[in-house]
Amino acid sequence: MLILHGPNLNLLGSREKSIYGSTTLAEIDRALERRGRELDVAVQSFQSNHEGVLVDKIHQAAGYSDGILINPGALTHYSYALRDALAAVGLPLVEVHLSNIFAREAFRAHSVISPLAAGVICGLGPHGYLLGLEALVRIIREKQGDQN
Ligand code: DQA
Repeated sequence: MLILHGPNLNLLGSREKSIYGSTTLAEIDRALERRGRELDVAVQSFQSNHEGVLVDKIHQAAGYSDGILINPGALTHYSYALRDALAAVGLPLVEVHLSNIFAREAFRAHSVISPLAAGVICGLGPHGYLLGLEALVRIIREKQGDQN
């Protein structure tokens, strides 16, 4: 499972705490790793502040990953490049946001990524990532079950 974190999420824990809370990205990644072990899936987390680096990572994921859990940060709202990369690899996708993007500025209420996602979780803070991972694993296992 590839977990992708977009721009500025490296600052979690100190960034706009009233919106994003005080949990750090390292703590979120550790919790995902733990949950991954319980679910018997390998989890790889990756953060970048650069759109092209995330696009490259998504291309590479086609070769080794069964699914992608992504918080694209602000790229959510306008990155057709990220969207096209996700569409190109066609891996099962779950989108997650710490904050409730529908309860904030108007520009955040639109995601160019969501139409590709099996589901979207937002507003539940770090717990949303764990719910997202569980959902992704279930979706992939159901698919694999269908093929057997
Ligand atoms: C975010 C919401 C985005 O609008 C924002 O640009 C982020 C974080 C979230 O997790 O709530 O960087 O994706």
